[in-house]
Amino acid sequence: MDAREVERAAVIGAGTMGHSIALSFAMSGIVVDLVDVEGAALDAARERMRHALATLARGGVIAGDRADEVLAFVRTSTETARCAAGADFVVETVPEVPEVKREVFAQLEAACPQDVVIASNTSGLDIFSIAEMSHPGRLLIAHWFNPAHIIPLVEVVPGPSTAPEAVSFTASLLERLGKVPVVMKGFTRAFIVNKIQNMMSLAVFELLGSGLATPEDVDLAVKYSLGIRLPVVGVVQTLDFTGLDLVADLLRSYGLSNPLIEEKVAAGELGAKTSRGIYDYGGRSEAEILEKRDGLYLRVLAFLKEIGAFEPI
Ligand SMILES: NC(=O)c1ccc[n+]([C@@H]2O[C@H](COP(=O)([O-])OP(=O)(O)OC[C@H]3O[C@@H](n4cnc5c(N)ncnc54)[C@H](O)[C@@H]3O)[C@@H](O)[C@H]2O)c1
Repeated sequence: MDAREVERAAVIGAGTMGHSIALSFAMSGIVVDLVDVEGAALDAARERMRHALATLARGGVIAGDRADEVLAFVRTSTETARCAAGADFVVETVPEVPEVKREVFAQLEAACPQDVVIASNTSGLDIFSIAEMSHPGRLLIAHWFNPAHIIPLVEVVPGPSTAPEAVSFTASLLERLGKVPVVMKGFTRAFIVNKIQNMMSLAVFELLGSGLATPEDVDLAVKYSLGIRLPVVGVVQTLDFTGLDLVADLLRSYGLSNPLIEEKVAAGELGAKTSRGIYDYGGRSEAEILEKRDGLYLRVLAFLKEIGAFEPI
C-alpha cells in the first residue's frame, strides 16, 4: 500500500502518548481507532485531546472552529482485535513492560492483515526479541516524542527482520502527518535522542547529588548556552565549531580518544576553521561560515527572550 492511501489507523494504548499520537493522525484526516483496556483511560484521552486542540487553536496551528471536526476522526474502543483488523497501520503504545508488549504484539499479529505494518512506540525495549511474530518483516519501532502532536521527530528503527518496504512506508506516512522521520540503520537501545538525553540525565544527577549546583543553576546554564546553540548546530556540528583539534585534546585530558576525531585531525580537517571537519563547508571561508552561524544564534536568542523561554515553566 502507498502511504497516501492510508485511511484508517489504530493506536493501542490511550495514555500520555496514545492520545497525542491519535491526534496526529486525526489532524491529517486519517480515521483513527484509539484503543485501551481501561474505559476511564479512553474518557481521559478524549478530554486530553480536547485540551490539546484548544491549545493548538490558541497557537494558530488549527482554526478555532476545527476542534470538533478533528475529534470526529477519533473513535475510542476497548476492542484491540476488531480495531486492528480494519486498520492500514497500527501503533502500539502500551506500558513499557515486556510482558504487556508481548501480549499486545500477539493480539496484533493475529488480527492485522499480513501486510499491515505494526509500529511500536517503545522508548528503548528490544521489541524484536520480545515479540513472537510469524511475520517479523512488518514489525518496527516508530518512536514519537511527547507531546507527539507537536514535536516533529519520530525515530524509525528497523529490527533484523524488518522489511525495507515497511520502513519506507512508515517514513512516508509520518511525512504525510507532517512529522520528521529519522530512519536508523538498525536497533540500539534508546535510539538517538534518548541515548543523548540519558547521558545528560546522568550528568544532571551527578551535579545535583554533589550539591555543586542547584536545579535552577543547571537549567539556567544550559538554557543560556546549549539552548541557543542546539537548534542551529545540533550536537555533532557543534564539534566543528569547537575545533576538532581541541576536541581531541579535551578527550585526551579525560584519558579518552576517538577514531573519527583522530582521523580528522590527522587529515587537517579541524572543522569550520579549515572549511571541513565532520561536516564539509564546501570551501567557504571561516568568516562566511561564522557569519551565517552567528546570524542564526542572534535570531534564536532574541526569540527565546521574546517568548520568556529563560523563565522556568
Ligand atoms: N511518556 C513519554 O514521554 C513517552 C515518550 C516516548 C515513548 N513512550 C513510550 O510509549 C509507551 C506508552 O507510554 P505512556 O507514557 O503513554 O504510558 P501510559 O501509562 O500513559 O499509557 C499506556 C496506556 O496503555 C493502556 N494499556 C495497558 N495495557 C494495555 C493493553 N493490553 N491493551 C491496550 N491498552 C493497554 C493503559 O491502560 C494506559 O492507558 C511506552 O512504551 C513508553 O516507553 C513514552
